[in-house]
Amino acid sequence: MRTDIGQVFKLEDYRPSDYFIPETKLTFRLSPEKTMVVALLTLERRDGVDVSAPLVLAGDGPMRLVRVEVDGKALSPEDYEATPDSLTLAKLPAARRFTLLMETQLAPSQNETLMGLYRSSGVYCTQCEAEGFRRIVYFLDRPDILSVYTVRIEALKSEAPLLLSNGNPVESGKLEGGRHYAVWHDPFPKPSYLFALVAGDLGRITDSFTTMSGKKVDLGIYVEHGKEKLAHYAMDALKRSMKWDEETFGCEYDLDVFNIVAVSDFNMGAMENKGLNIFNDKYVLADRETATDADFANIEAIIAHEYFHNWTGNRITCRDWFQLCLKEGLTVFRDHEFSADQRSRPVKRIAEVRTLRAHQFPEDQGPLAHPVRPRRYREINNFYTATVYEKGSEVVRMIRTILGAETFRQGMDLYFLRHDGEAATIEDFIRVFEDVSGRDLSQFALWYHQAGTPNVTVGSSHNPATQEFTLEIEQSVPPTPSESRKRLMHIPLAFGLVGRNGKDLVYSNAEGASVENGVIHIRKRRHTVRFSGITERPAISLNRGFSAPLTLAVEQSADDKFFLAGNDSDEFSRWQAFNTLLTDALIDAFRQILGGKKPIFVARLTSLAGKIAGDETLEPAYRALALMLPSEADIARDIGKNIDPDAIFAGREALAVAIAKENQAVFTHLYETLQDRGEFSPNAKDAGRRALRNMLLDYLCLLPGGAKLTLRHFHDATNMTDRAAALTMLAHRHHGSPEAIEALGAFETRYASDPLVMDKWFQIQASVPGPQTVESVRALTSHPAFSMTNPNRLRSLVGTFSAANQTGFHRPDGEGYRLFVETVLDVEKRNPQMASRLATALRSWRSLEPVRQAKAREALLAMANTENLSADLRDIIERTLA
Ligand code: BES
Ligand code: ZN
Repeated sequence: MRTDIGQVFKLEDYRPSDYFIPETKLTFRLSPEKTMVVALLTLERRDGVDVSAPLVLAGDGPMRLVRVEVDGKALSPEDYEATPDSLTLAKLPAARRFTLLMETQLAPSQNETLMGLYRSSGVYCTQCEAEGFRRIVYFLDRPDILSVYTVRIEALKSEAPLLLSNGNPVESGKLEGGRHYAVWHDPFPKPSYLFALVAGDLGRITDSFTTMSGKKVDLGIYVEHGKEKLAHYAMDALKRSMKWDEETFGCEYDLDVFNIVAVSDFNMGAMENKGLNIFNDKYVLADRETATDADFANIEAIIAHEYFHNWTGNRITCRDWFQLCLKEGLTVFRDHEFSADQRSRPVKRIAEVRTLRAHQFPEDQGPLAHPVRPRRYREINNFYTATVYEKGSEVVRMIRTILGAETFRQGMDLYFLRHDGEAATIEDFIRVFEDVSGRDLSQFALWYHQAGTPNVTVGSSHNPATQEFTLEIEQSVPPTPSESRKRLMHIPLAFGLVGRNGKDLVYSNAEGASVENGVIHIRKRRHTVRFSGITERPAISLNRGFSAPLTLAVEQSADDKFFLAGNDSDEFSRWQAFNTLLTDALIDAFRQILGGKKPIFVARLTSLAGKIAGDETLEPAYRALALMLPSEADIARDIGKNIDPDAIFAGREALAVAIAKENQAVFTHLYETLQDRGEFSPNAKDAGRRALRNMLLDYLCLLPGGAKLTLRHFHDATNMTDRAAALTMLAHRHHGSPEAIEALGAFETRYASDPLVMDKWFQIQASVPGPQTVESVRALTSHPAFSMTNPNRLRSLVGTFSAANQTGFHRPDGEGYRLFVETVLDVEKRNPQMASRLATALRSWRSLEPVRQAKAREALLAMANTENLSADLRDIIERTLA
């Protein structure tokens, strides 16, 4: 484990390497306790670099260097200096090209970091992004070093009949002593973080895809024996992704094979290694019995995401890790578009915005705020953030909004043409769009360089005499850590002036800002935008489709808000209008409760919920999202300070009960008519129907007889979506009831031997609101299905408790934090990356009320004062406290 030495990496320090590695030949002799790796590198000195320039390779972890040779001649130990984190060669051949051979010894079965080469359920696998390759062999482990890899794997055939690496298979055969080998060659130069190896005994399903130029690609998905039938949905998603990328971006697959391997111990969701994607099995395995509709949608999105990296990330990679959003933000944008095309565009957009607000906004508004392209880091693993990913995707979306879809596509084409085979930067990316459009995007580029969520405030007035409608728009960007002064942004604000008939009014002229294709371009601090030819006072619909990731405060009457919630032609904004009404009511309820009063809700609001539920012109999935109340965390974020999670919870439950009571008849009727009929399908239409039905039950379960009704739903369920939904309602809203106890027991018995389903059982219990959950989570850590070493188990139980249980985690006596600190410190000894991800749960501690805030600070200090913290965890804790 790399403990912290306080080293800071800076963007401005980037220098090209003195040496390149055009070719890399690796031989792995696999064995659990003693794996030998021979790396034969062809090295090349960069033009103009002096022969005396030392070669410094990066290393990490407990690997043992047993041999070093230059140009075939063994070096004696005084010819090089090897430390755990580097290998330095000072005397090198005068020739520009030479070879370096290194042999290292590893113990994959001892590797609990899940980085480098490790074993997961007896399968050898690798994870090299961002800096894991250096745990296998010393290397120029940086993304601008592109090398052509040939990999030979040798292993005991009985233990590892399957031997996979990147690229195409070239050769395989038998060896002595029951061993065998396979050789793989990847013709595309790639950075070391895309290297992968898998060896083990796995089942597989196969298929093929014929690309647009007629090339046949063999597809394989490898899973634990017996689970093959659970991989078909993933295979289908893969083929749809391949087709979509050809149709939408002209991107064709480039190797003869594409393999996906599912492993059960994986820190992240999945990894895009060239031709050999490695997945957390949670994002591959699914059928109606074990996976919810949300699981199916995630699988589809992640399969697509990793596949799309083949062009955005692999063929064009990043110059350095500061450019991470170049591949991640762009690829998230691509997977979002894919899902929107495969499913429902407005529903997908609403879900994206909910995720952005839930994860990226708190990051941007708290101590861990950083630009989409950061300028400094201490530990790169901590920068795989919602800002880099989600906001990074929004920035690409804004480029498309500004340029229009056609010009955007031309820019992408130019990007692929100009930078294929290169390690590029954000500047390169922006330049292609400037070049195809002739626009100056320098002010826009601040979205990459400046942290913080902009605030936009809007006031309006209508003058019937002059038929003029005026918007007063003002932008500001709040200060963030180490950036107190902010520059003005270029904000593309999509809008509509909605007339009384629900249609957008047509204006004859707009001045005060450039207004094109339904978008106001905000570039200054203040704009007074005047629309002429407006005869009636419109309701203003702003930031349509969430055209820019900002917070918006519009001076607007309740009448206008209700009008938009029922009539806005932009489905996103219509959802937003209703959601804003709900949020306003919830904030008001929070204040009432703190003041010792009982919250009351206007019937105009609660009955609108019933109207939306029954509106047949809206798709069910959309109605389900509209009826979903803002989460406790959403409400807390909008209140901003002095948060008392118990009061937020009480207000939210009160609104849910009020909506349920007001609409009991409509909801009950709809609940019955939406019942499953016919064959199960995970498609968006059926999933939407289930989502709406479960959302209705979520209200009905609060009424008298609700527990019985929900238990019946649980027992009648023919798929995991319905079963898990009912179990959640019973466990959360009828905690301790006979019905809840029965359902939890039945679920446990039915799925005891299926770890991925047991994760749901852990998750549901970890998110039960209330003070008692600390104790139940603690007790569940001793459950036979739980494991402190498996990331999925940990995330389900401790991750859910700390990130998604406001009342339990933030228990005023600090017991929630105590459990959290114990777990984080325990996990970090084995898996620092996992520990630091868990630790971000306290990032919004300063917005809590004083009692909880003091306890949270104590917890953070307890971690900060621990000796020998990993670089990963120390970085998060210190920034959180700063
Ligand atoms: N390249 C990442 C995986 C990764 C993340 C490796 C962090 C090393 C450190 C991969 O493409 C990715 O982004 N995976 C996401 C899922 C995706 C759908 C956003 C993940 O693993 O969460
Ligand atoms: Zn990615």
